[in-house]
Amino acid sequence: MELKGKRIIVTGSARGMGEATLLNYVRAGAHVIGMDVSDDDGCAVVEEANKAGPGKAEYMHVDIAEKDSVESTFAEAVKLMGGLDVLAHPAAIQRSSDAGDVSVEDWDLMFAVNVRGTMLTNQVAARYMKESGGGSIINFGSISGQRPEPSAAAYSAAKGAVHSWTRTAAGTWGKDNIRVNAILPAMATPMYREAMALADEAALEASYWMNRRTIALGEEYGDPDKDLGPVMVFFASDASGFITGQLIPVDGGQTSVR
Ligand SMILES: NC(=O)c1ccc[n+]([C@@H]2O[C@H](COP(=O)([O-])OP(=O)(O)OC[C@H]3O[C@@H](n4cnc5c(N)ncnc54)[C@H](O)[C@@H]3O)[C@@H](O)[C@H]2O)c1
Repeated sequence: MELKGKRIIVTGSARGMGEATLLNYVRAGAHVIGMDVSDDDGCAVVEEANKAGPGKAEYMHVDIAEKDSVESTFAEAVKLMGGLDVLAHPAAIQRSSDAGDVSVEDWDLMFAVNVRGTMLTNQVAARYMKESGGGSIINFGSISGQRPEPSAAAYSAAKGAVHSWTRTAAGTWGKDNIRVNAILPAMATPMYREAMALADEAALEASYWMNRRTIALGEEYGDPDKDLGPVMVFFASDASGFITGQLIPVDGGQTSVR
């Protein structure tokens, strides 16, 4: 599962699972461009990665919801790396909302970043991967797109759309040797900690029974570096060359149906 020679874009690389993914890829020898809207953190992650090596990383600003931003930033990254083999795409936002009163603004924001952002990054990446003879796209879905999610109606609908898109993109680009899968994670990241910090006592209790109690491997969310990083390396590597169109839970057993 060595990634030496692989040219990789990681979105959402400033923190959480994007950060852990970028660090693991550089440790496995890849050339990685991290992208995010959060520039100071994004640069700090790249600095840490380069100190450790043996691969290397650079940082670029992108807003995944905006077509021009994705087109121009990916073009610059591909020029710098001399091609593209892998897109890891964890960038997303999470907001609470109730099905009864979710606003049009929240709905549109969620779909702009989480769904349109997936479509745009995947489309542009696939174009460059075709020129490279194939590649691997790793999207991020959620258990929220698999089951009822009363506290996050728009997020849940958007993740369901990411799952459908992932299957369709895999079916479309398989002939070009481009694989498209989605990771469904449960990891202790800033996104998870922020959601928990906003929850009142009743919501924390509900979250325990719905989210943590169902994690077979010890009722705790995973560590992004240790529990997710190696899986991301596997999906970027040729070792996963015959897997496509799949929703892959990396969640200690939280999602036990698909
Ligand atoms: N944390 C979990 O347990 C969990 C569970 C299920 C699904 N997920 C999904 O996993 C993925 C990673 O989650 P995380 O917990 O690491 O999130 P996070 O919030 O910690 O990190 C997300 C990153 O995406 C970036 N980002 C947001 N909007 C952007 C935009 N428009 N353009 C570019 N970058 C943008 C943020 O700045 C941030 O650095 C997400 O798709 C999330 O929905 C997470």
